[in-house]
Amino acid sequence: MKTVVITGSARGLGYEMALRFRRKDYNVVLSDLNEENLEKAKAQLLLESGQGSVVSTLCNVVSYSDLEGLMAFALENFGSVDIWINNAGVNQPDKPVYELSEKEISLMIDVDLKGAVYGSKIAYAQMKKQGFGQIYSIDGYGSNDAMMMGLTLYGTSKRGLTYFMKALAKESDTMKDNIQVGRLSPGIMITDFLVNANNDSTKIDLPEKTKKVYNILGDYPDVIADFLVEKMVNNSKSGVCFEWLTNGKAFVRFLTAGFNKRDFFK
Ligand SMILES: NC(=O)c1ccc[n+]([C@@H]2O[C@H](COP(=O)([O-])OP(=O)(O)OC[C@H]3O[C@@H](n4cnc5c(N)ncnc54)[C@H](O)[C@@H]3O)[C@@H](O)[C@H]2O)c1
Repeated sequence: MKTVVITGSARGLGYEMALRFRRKDYNVVLSDLNEENLEKAKAQLLLESGQGSVVSTLCNVVSYSDLEGLMAFALENFGSVDIWINNAGVNQPDKPVYELSEKEISLMIDVDLKGAVYGSKIAYAQMKKQGFGQIYSIDGYGSNDAMMMGLTLYGTSKRGLTYFMKALAKESDTMKDNIQVGRLSPGIMITDFLVNANNDSTKIDLPEKTKKVYNILGDYPDVIADFLVEKMVNNSKSGVCFEWLTNGKAFVRFLTAGFNKRDFFK
């Protein structure tokens, strides 16, 4: 039986991916820093049928030792890890850089970039020992160099993470390790993330114009998780990016926007 570990999987995309792995009979290791949501997520997954087991543990991805503990916990339970997903992320308060506090800047870099770098390093070391595995991180705004006021630090972290994942895939190719390193690009997901920053402590008041764009381009995370999990379980290549919102799809969404009656923010 295969095993997947997902950081930040108590809700949102992480949870939806965990659910799909469960339905595919994987052993699922849930982890998050929000204990209440983590317990709920585990209970919810156990209601679903699946041949694998579901276990959960607290893990703050800012902490290297927490991530080492997460890997140790997965190994104690299941002996090896087939897929490791660095999913945990935080959004930026809608402010220009000069208004961000030191704490706000650190949080984005520590969670969105450093947490995924730490997670990838720990997963890679274990997968090298066991001789196989896949590691994924999540792209986000800025991964393709896009820029927007209010997302500079988030974009900086995601841009850095994209570079890191590409370079790590290259390392894996060079060393001929049987480890596939890739990226998941979910586009715009209608999750709590869109309206909360700083680990939920700061509300983001989305302008009407932005809501309009999100209504056209956005999707709930369950639909996106369907697509991403199917891609991961069938993947054998390194350096891949599984992209939900392609340019072609975005173009069609804008073309048909007049017929689009979706309003996620009602
Ligand atoms: N929502 C979007 O539109 C969007 C778009 C592109 C990329 N992403 C990325 O997708 C990923 C998931 O986003 P989501 O929309 O599901 O967000 P979400 O806010 O719904 O879920 C994120 C989860 O991560 C957890 N988390 C936050 N900080 C953590 C930490 N330090 N350690 C462990 N867990 C932590 C939260 O408790 C939460 O359960 C993130 O990496 C995000 O940057 C989101």
